[in-house]
Order: sequence, then C-alpha cells, then structure tokens
Amino acid sequence: MAVRINPSILSADFVNLEAEVARIRSADFVHVDVMDNHFVPNLTFGLAMVERLQAVSPIPLDVHLMMDDPDRWAPGFAEAGAGSVTFHAEAASDAVALARRLRSIGARAGIALKPGTAVEPYLGQLAEFDQVLVMTVEPGFGGQSFLASTMPKLGLLRAAATASGFDVWLQVDGGINEHTIAVAADSGADTFVAGSSVFAFDDAAERIGLLREVATAHSHAH
Ligand code: DX5
Ligand code: ZN
Repeated sequence: MAVRINPSILSADFVNLEAEVARIRSADFVHVDVMDNHFVPNLTFGLAMVERLQAVSPIPLDVHLMMDDPDRWAPGFAEAGAGSVTFHAEAASDAVALARRLRSIGARAGIALKPGTAVEPYLGQLAEFDQVLVMTVEPGFGGQSFLASTMPKLGLLRAAATASGFDVWLQVDGGINEHTIAVAADSGADTFVAGSSVFAFDDAAERIGLLREVATAHSHAH
C-alpha cells in the first residue's frame, strides 16, 4: 500500500510560501488549512491565497476546509485547481452532493471528521469519497498532541474500505510525528498530514523521508 506524506503549511513561514513549498517538493501534496474563524477559532487564508499557491507549488494541493457552509465555498477551491478538497462532515448540509460536485470539477473529494464525530454513518458511503480525514486533534491549531482515542475510527474505515474494494485514502491530521505516524499506520491510515514535525526542521526533505519510512514499515502491506 502506498503511503502519502502531506506537510501542512500551517507551520510554514507565511511570508515566504513559495520558498516553503519548494522545501517540501519530495512530499506528495501540500496540505493547506483554510480556517474561517467560525467553524474553528482561528483564521488563516482564503481562496485568493490558495489560487496563488496553486500557481507556484511544485506538487498538488490538499486543501482542508475548516469552514462553515462548505456547500457554498468548496467548489471554488476545486475550480482553482486543487488536487484534493476536503470539507468537514459537521459543516456540510449535503456531503454526498458536495463530493459529487467536487469530483465533477476534477478534484478528489474528501470528508473530514472531528475527534468527537462518529464514523459509522459514512462507512456505507465510501464510494462517494476519495478520502476520509480522521482528525487526530481538535481542528484549529498546529502543534497539538495526537489523540490516540481516534484510532478505532480508522480501524472501522480500513475494514470497510477493504470489504468494499473502494480505493479511498484514509488521512490523519494533527500531532503526527515519527512516533505517532507508526500508530496511525498500524490502525489503517495511508495518508499523513504533518505540520510542525516537518516545517520546524531545517532539513524538511529529511523529515519527509523519515515519516515516509516509518509509515511504510507500518503500513498494512507489511
Ligand atoms: C489543525 C490542522 C492541521 C495542523 C497540523 O487544525 O488541520 O493540518 O496543521 O499541525 P501539526 O502537525 O503540528 O499537529
Ligand atoms: Zn489540516
């Protein structure tokens, strides 16, 4: 099973984003945390910024929308050319319809679950999504500690994905480092967001390589 490492630019230098995305060119996607100060108590950047990032990034964007009313706003990020657009289940009024719209524009469609959100309602809908993001911290801020209590959701998702045969990527986001990535991979994740454990280091490529190595050793293919 291939693993993917998606560094989060939430921990990057916001005035040097072009140089920061160049630093992580050995990664699979740039994880872009869009926060609206309503769905989460923090504010980052919006569509105009993401459009510029899309123009200069050497690798595709993995947009994580922590915002209210994604039914209205998410398609714009797909139209901007993002490789993947993930919205929150708690915020969407019609998740399946929105995912279909994102796919029709040409993006991968992802659905995200906060730590307290149950996964069971989505296990029978895996055909509709290209990615399920299991949040491993409360969304809003980088640098928090990994919540191992979320791992049973990954087990359920991995079992449902295997049983159905759908190639849905299972992403984790929050507190991922070279130790917790092993736990998440053991639990069934294959796509890993890492902010502070990549960007806080001078050699980002080395950090990406280390995370990839540990995740691969613990992936379900082994
Ligand atoms: C949190 C964001 C994460 C964040 C992760 O709400 O969704 O993507 O950047 O940061 P770390 O890896 O530092 O926990
Ligand atoms: Zn994120």
